[in-house]
Amino acid sequence: MAAYSFGWCEVGGASAAASGGKGVRQALAVLGAEAVGAPARAGVPAAVAVELLHTFSLVHDDIMDGDTARRGRATAWKAYGTGPAVLAGDALFALAVETLADTGHGPAAVRLTARALGDLVRGQADDLLFAERPWAGPGRVRPAEYRAMAEHKTGALLGCALGLGALLGGAPAAAVDALDRAGRHVGIAFQVVDDVLGIWGDPAVTGKPVHADLRERKKTYPVLVALDAPGLAQLLETGDRPAEAAALIEEAGGRTAAVTEARRHLDAAQASLDEVPLETAALHELRRLLDFLVRRDL
Ligand code: IPE
Ligand code: IPE
Ligand code: MG
Ligand code: MG
Repeated sequence: MAAYSFGWCEVGGASAAASGGKGVRQALAVLGAEAVGAPARAGVPAAVAVELLHTFSLVHDDIMDGDTARRGRATAWKAYGTGPAVLAGDALFALAVETLADTGHGPAAVRLTARALGDLVRGQADDLLFAERPWAGPGRVRPAEYRAMAEHKTGALLGCALGLGALLGGAPAAAVDALDRAGRHVGIAFQVVDDVLGIWGDPAVTGKPVHADLRERKKTYPVLVALDAPGLAQLLETGDRPAEAAALIEEAGGRTAAVTEARRHLDAAQASLDEVPLETAALHELRRLLDFLVRRDL
């Protein structure tokens, strides 16, 4: 099941060369090490651990969201059943902890990662709780609450990837912290972009179903900022005319506002990188990667 999730095999074990994802977090981990002057290989255990954790979180996320497609294939729970998929996620988690414990910075690496995972769980919990909240009135989800949720569910692991790479590269705490903060900001931007792609992206490119978030009544950023549009709240409540809802959200400026929000957090991420001295070549690559993460397909 783990190999299936990484795109290495089909159900039943025959080998496959399916998409294992963009590899964003592993790239961040290696660049985190290089940015603090360490060789790329110093960041490799961090890259392995965060990619294991990322895949674990996706396998469980697809169960929570009830999504049936990821990376262009059936999700793990759809292919193997929910019980087995929960266990596959747990096994990936265990392997990640073991990978970190075996590094020369075991205790600090495990502590940094545990903090990120605690945040990820909190963000996922908020994401689920938001689905129960009303679209209008005093109980509605505010954009600031969304930002905190996105920083936790997505930013924490991106920040962890960068910070962990730096930590294993022997960086001082200030550099680890600045890189962690940069990752958290870019995580908010990345999640807002993911929300936009979830509504207007091409499923052939994203590998994920279109409109699933609207059907699931997810409080995504483009939706939250468009809620004053007449009739939208009602349309969202039913969840069964997602294409109409998408058109109304776009007309009300939700898509444009989301892109602006993503760029704002990208700038904040870039500013965090200016707070500490980093290696020029790695820093340049890192800036380009952050930029790509936020501008992909927009
Ligand atoms: C998907 O992350 C989950 C989010 C945090 C939005 P990615 O878009 O990085 O997933 P893969 O690894 O490339 O499939
Ligand atoms: C994913 O959030 C975040 C984690 C897996 C922790 P989403 O549910 O918004 O991401 P996708 O769109 O399914 O990848
Ligand atoms: Mg999901
Ligand atoms: Mg989710």
